[in-house]
Amino acid sequence: MTARSGRHFLQIPGPTNVPDRVLRAMDAATIDHRGPEFFALAREVIAGMKRIFRTTGPVAVYGASGTGAWEAALVNTLSPGDRVLAFETGHFATLWKQLAERLGVAVELMPGDWRHGVDPAAVEARLTADKAHAFKAVMVVHNETSTGVTSRVPEVRAAIDRAKHPALLLVDTISSLASIDYRHDAWGVDVTVAGSQKGLMLPPGLSFNAISAKALAANKTAKLPRSYWDWEPLIAANETGGFPYTPATNLIYGLKAAIAMLEEQGLEAVFQRHDRHAEATRRAVRAWGLEVLAQDPREFSSSLTAVVMPAGHDADALRRIILERFDMSLGAGLTKLKGKVFRIGHLGDFNDLMLMGTLAGVEMGLGIAGVPHQRGGAQAAMDYLAGNAKTGAG
Ligand SMILES: Cc1ncc(COP(=O)(O)O)c(C=O)c1O
Repeated sequence: MTARSGRHFLQIPGPTNVPDRVLRAMDAATIDHRGPEFFALAREVIAGMKRIFRTTGPVAVYGASGTGAWEAALVNTLSPGDRVLAFETGHFATLWKQLAERLGVAVELMPGDWRHGVDPAAVEARLTADKAHAFKAVMVVHNETSTGVTSRVPEVRAAIDRAKHPALLLVDTISSLASIDYRHDAWGVDVTVAGSQKGLMLPPGLSFNAISAKALAANKTAKLPRSYWDWEPLIAANETGGFPYTPATNLIYGLKAAIAMLEEQGLEAVFQRHDRHAEATRRAVRAWGLEVLAQDPREFSSSLTAVVMPAGHDADALRRIILERFDMSLGAGLTKLKGKVFRIGHLGDFNDLMLMGTLAGVEMGLGIAGVPHQRGGAQAAMDYLAGNAKTGAG
């Protein structure tokens, strides 16, 4: 492959652009993971992750992709044959449901149209009808990366409470943590699942469970087989900064730098920046005369925007042209959205001019690919960004 000049634009909704500061932090000698230096580092990083999850409870750190943390959330809290309630919000909610079924969990999936998030009223109605409290857990994907729809977790929590149902609340924040406001403790979540490669600005390879006291209690009686994922030895070892197995040392160096960057900016400013870039992107999409896949403004995602292609036009052909001509990767439509949408990732280490490069690339690509659209999307985004200077570079 011939070398290309300038930076590749990695505008898929994760993995995201890894900042130089994180890359440099990882470019260091691997140290003894049973020595005092690593123990201090691990304790510091776990304390930092608690602040990012906004929890005072334990946080398990796995050397795994997000799928591993999905599995960990289930095997640590459930027993074979347990019933759980899940919601068909898109590709990733469907994959998590399938994973649960393979583990021997009985999943009831509430159907969805892949354009809306979890309906809190439906949660309340279904759980109120479950008088025998057969459901042991409710599985919610906070930000559905395949559709750009963010479910309203506090309202789901309130719905569970109104139904007076004891089910655990398990939430996937793989494409929302450190991009979109999220509060593990305040929102009464029992297990939060997260990954390193999106808002945390790291390469793939680390994933996390934040764990409530209620989830820890459920762990004592949960009977699904588990070994690598078992919270108990991991949390016990973490007390001192140790791990029951070899941790991903250099990714943990990177995580320390990423947490520092997020905290120097301030989480609130980070969320505002994502909100602002998402709003600018939606203005561009509307100016092009195209449609955002998410239908309810209360559920618009701040980490990515899925754009619906006009009928008869293939999103993958557009993405191919943009990659070849402008060296930019955009997210593909997944499973039932294949070819029908493309996804613009605007999360992680990102600023106004990176967004403008992204939107300019999309606008030029639409023209070259012959996709019917109006000009002026990039201009609409610029007008919005220039008029809303706050947190631009933050
Ligand atoms: C919301 C969501 N959940 C789960 C996953 C699966 O994570 P991984 O691919 O890191 O295993 C992804 C991956 O993109 C995701 O976006």
